[in-house]
Amino acid sequence: MKFFIDSADMKVITTANQRGWVDGVTTNPTLIAKSGRPFFDVIKEICKEVPGPVSAEVISLKADEMVREGLELAKLASNVVVKIPMTEDGLVAVKRLTAEGIKTNVTLVFNPVQALLVAKAGATMVSPFVGRLDDIGQDGMKMVQQIVQIYKNYEFKTEVLVASIRHPVHLLQAAEMGAHIGTLPFKVLQQLCQHPLTDKGIKQFMDDWNKSQAKA
Ligand code: E4P
Repeated sequence: MKFFIDSADMKVITTANQRGWVDGVTTNPTLIAKSGRPFFDVIKEICKEVPGPVSAEVISLKADEMVREGLELAKLASNVVVKIPMTEDGLVAVKRLTAEGIKTNVTLVFNPVQALLVAKAGATMVSPFVGRLDDIGQDGMKMVQQIVQIYKNYEFKTEVLVASIRHPVHLLQAAEMGAHIGTLPFKVLQQLCQHPLTDKGIKQFMDDWNKSQAKA
């Protein structure tokens, strides 16, 4: 399973990458706005730091404009993946960009039939948003399970990129279901490393060691 970091903050992306935690990056307009920096500069810098796929989202809502923006984004670096919203126009843009050999990631997917259309359009990745679905009282991980099953049934090549992950259990369940990728905020990446019994065990080992050294 591949781990992506969901961020446009160079400091945390670099830290996570240097720790060997990430295989790629996802950004979105909110994350870019939070960075306070020009869009193209941030994407170019991320692409230099992380050799894996880096998703950069188009802002237009019309297919022609999305394609134009996608072509511009793809010129920034060879590892750019053009992120397109799940709309009728978005699917048209995916087909056209795919025909040009450009990788795409369809975002804001909230049900399995949307994901089925995404795969039929030939997208490289699909991003089901689990946390946002949980937020409205629906089961985000159930949607991922259905998408993984449907893609297996028809041997679609589109990779399932589980997005809007809020905690380690989302990631655990995504791994059990066989999702290809999880994109995680830095905080959740750190949480994956942690367990209170690990901390307790280290403390006990250190205390016992220090006691034995004091006696020697
Ligand atoms: C993924 O590509 C999205 O940027 C992200 O996972 C959205 O997460 P959020 O629902 O926590 O904003």
